[in-house]
Amino acid sequence: MAMARAALSLVFFALFMVGEFSAVLSWKKEEFRNCDQTPFCKRARAKKPQSSPFSVSGVALENGRLTAILLPKPNSTSPFIQERGSDESQHLADGAISDREIQESRPLLIELSVYQDGILRLKVDESNDPAIKKRFQVPDVVVPELEQRKLLISTISTSSDGPSSTIHLTDGIEAVLRHDPFALDVRRSGTPDDLLLSLNSNGLFDFEQRRSSKDGEDWEERFRGHTDSRPRGPQSISFDLSFYDADFVYGIPEHASTSLGLQYTRGPGIDQSEPYRLFNLDVFEYLHESPFGLYGSVPLMLSHGPRGSNGFFWLNAAEMQIDVLSPGWDDGPSISSPEEKNTKNTKNKKKRIDTLWMSEAGIVDAFFFVGPAPKDVIRQYTRVTGSPALPQLFAVAYHQCRWNYRDEEDVANVDAGFDEHDIPYDVLWLDIEHTDGKRYFTWDKSLFPNPVEMQNKIGAKGRRMVTIVDPHIKRDESFGLHSEATEKGYYVKDSSGKDFDGWCWPGSSSYPDMLNPEIREWWANKFSLKDYVGSTPSLYIWNDMNEPSVFNGPEVTMPRDALHYGGVEHREVHNAYGYYFHMASAEGLLRRGGGKDRPFVLSRAFFAGTQRYGAIWTGDNTADWDHFKASVPMVLTLGLAGLTFSGADVGGFFGNPEPELLVRWYQLGAYYPFFRGHAHHDTRRREPWLFGAQNTARIREAIHIRYSLLPYYYTLFREASVSGTPVMRPLWLEFPNDPLTFNISDAFLVGDSLLVKGIFEERQKSVNVYLPGKESWFDVRSGMAYAGGRSHWLEASDDGVPAFQRAGTIIPRRERFRRSSTQMANDPFTLVVALNSSMEAEGELYLDDGRSFDYTEGAFIHRRFVFSNQTLHSSPVSVDRGVKVFSSDCVVERVVILGLPVKPHRAAVWPAGGEVEVEAGPLTLRPRAKTAAVVIRRPNLRIVDDWSLKLL
Ligand code: GLC
Repeated sequence: MAMARAALSLVFFALFMVGEFSAVLSWKKEEFRNCDQTPFCKRARAKKPQSSPFSVSGVALENGRLTAILLPKPNSTSPFIQERGSDESQHLADGAISDREIQESRPLLIELSVYQDGILRLKVDESNDPAIKKRFQVPDVVVPELEQRKLLISTISTSSDGPSSTIHLTDGIEAVLRHDPFALDVRRSGTPDDLLLSLNSNGLFDFEQRRSSKDGEDWEERFRGHTDSRPRGPQSISFDLSFYDADFVYGIPEHASTSLGLQYTRGPGIDQSEPYRLFNLDVFEYLHESPFGLYGSVPLMLSHGPRGSNGFFWLNAAEMQIDVLSPGWDDGPSISSPEEKNTKNTKNKKKRIDTLWMSEAGIVDAFFFVGPAPKDVIRQYTRVTGSPALPQLFAVAYHQCRWNYRDEEDVANVDAGFDEHDIPYDVLWLDIEHTDGKRYFTWDKSLFPNPVEMQNKIGAKGRRMVTIVDPHIKRDESFGLHSEATEKGYYVKDSSGKDFDGWCWPGSSSYPDMLNPEIREWWANKFSLKDYVGSTPSLYIWNDMNEPSVFNGPEVTMPRDALHYGGVEHREVHNAYGYYFHMASAEGLLRRGGGKDRPFVLSRAFFAGTQRYGAIWTGDNTADWDHFKASVPMVLTLGLAGLTFSGADVGGFFGNPEPELLVRWYQLGAYYPFFRGHAHHDTRRREPWLFGAQNTARIREAIHIRYSLLPYYYTLFREASVSGTPVMRPLWLEFPNDPLTFNISDAFLVGDSLLVKGIFEERQKSVNVYLPGKESWFDVRSGMAYAGGRSHWLEASDDGVPAFQRAGTIIPRRERFRRSSTQMANDPFTLVVALNSSMEAEGELYLDDGRSFDYTEGAFIHRRFVFSNQTLHSSPVSVDRGVKVFSSDCVVERVVILGLPVKPHRAAVWPAGGEVEVEAGPLTLRPRAKTAAVVIRRPNLRIVDDWSLKLL
């Protein structure tokens, strides 16, 4: 199949050369279902806004939750919830609910719960019918601690504006469950017009209930020669969701786009657009601009406007489609009660973005986040799905990958090449060809006869290796892993109950059923040093193709009627398959290290909660400027959805980047949270030193910048692990009141202190950079100050991309370059102090052993640096300490101060006493820089101590 893919790639190339680009695009599109070919999507999209046919009754308080039942009203004229065969859209247009349908439908159960931080959870499910299989509710994503944060609802008040139940969420914010017609609003307390979010205010809520028998109906669905038997019939859910006071909505990765803000997908001005699709797929040569689903899914949307941010998360792992509706989409006649008209009028007065959410199966398990600041929304979301794991320090450094490093000699040469060219790197990766015939956990003995020795040699320089372990297991009886999985019945089953057999890299393959905890445990044990022969403690893991990719399956994935543990259909769990696989592999590394070594597992597929298990990357991008540009909003969007440890393949996976593109990609990619160069096997070799001395120097400088910033990055990863706040941030996260930042997609912040702008055009001569806020920004290479609150035209230097340190911040750096991050562990620090207009600045430094979990028991150093009154102070950040201690002899060897109007003569150190030299010197990284900074050399202040450094 690898051959087949290569052949397809040739076809693509040939068509491209003869100018048939549109033919190529449509060929690619045809592989995948669009909304019209997806009955639940087509049906839901055909509905018009209306007065909801559902009403709420039986509201009660039960164990601190609000419960109620939801029923369609008799005599409603509306699209009803049952699918009606092939010409359903006709029916839907007429849409009256028959008495039979009313009788058939069972009441739906509503449950509302409230958690600390104003989090509201809405569940809607069918009532239990023992004759019918329960609908799938995704386990293992919501963190168990959430229950401890539950607030018991003790009062429900009835509000004056129609029959409704109001519950308190947090100071100044309440949720209102409207009874008739059913809607759920989140609003500022006591102000019916001041809505933040509302569900079903356009009446599109719909819920196809499961039925016990087919009644002779044809439920099968066919697509490109594949038949989905759909034995359980239609079971989709859809509803509208409105975000108020929103200028933009963001999130719902993963889609490729050069725009950070989501685009309208339907309504006036939008022709033939598709909804955003969330369906984990291995899309060969994906387009850089498309709402089609890629490898992972997080059904989280954030909204932002001058009044603040909100968020909405639907925990559901089935295929989802989401429309962002353009203003006026709901114009035209709709059937509204007077009360509904009132609401609508009110609603229309407020700026809002309406969205339509559609899912093929599952239940409604939805969370509403009230913000008000964007970081609050992300914190609230990660309270539900977990905080990002703190990676090991090496994983934050540079990774070198290629499909494939051929053999041990190749590995040794690449490793030596980095040393020869004075370029640090931390991890060398081995792709599928290192295995014995694509049998994971094995080695090709002729190419890698001594894997342990190879890893140890690399390990001696403080470097690590990574091998790939995919979920498709070669169906080969002589392969122990396969025979064991077969014997134990550990594979996902096809619809007839046999082990599912699909085609992937090894040929005929089966897939372990990772939904089953017992199978995850079995899998995790395969990573032990005993089981994974040839592995060492310095070997880490890459999980790929875990959407799962099935070359001969419908849409290159597993059939939806395949069966998992507990009789769960693949359609119900599809988007979480890769998540479970990632979870089991991370658990494997955790066990291997006796719980002492933080796992590193990179995954391609992901779901909500993946941030707890490891890093992800944006898959098989292409070496062109558009894909390069799209990488920024893609990585930013992942960060907004909690997945802060992410990056794109530097250089582009497919194709050969021109040296200029490769260099630009390194210059920008050095700032991605996950920084890895990778390339397809058909591409020319592209190790950093292969493009001439000047390009090597530029790439070296880019990688050096990353290494010098490792202390800052690590401090930011620690912050993310506590608050969820991403390492790489859109500008509006730090400047939420500045509308000019809301859709900036080609620049970003690293933490709150660094702003980076990409250069995304060939031979670009100048670049326009918007610097937000009132304070200045200092060019990190020249030290020059630029005024904030405006745009600047700058020369596009070949030597680096524009990057600025915000006035008022202090960034810790390490500037002695060595072979790997490990070798820098005892190196001294440089503090770069960028003064604001009040001549003040502050920043933090977090460090620990970079490897173990001892930090959770207090073994870390966390310092705050504050500059004011001409004095720099270092003091501990007060955090709860545990029993363990991390100690370090590292010192601050240099303090660089930017923005001082007058150069001081000396600096006095307290409490140690004594004075140190002060110079006006160049910034260390750019010896030729014109702007002088004040440099205090060798104050040698210990990082663990409290001290002050006074300028005299
Ligand atoms: C997939 C991955 C790519 C990898 C290749 C071979 O295409 O996305 O990164 O190199 O498989 O394993």
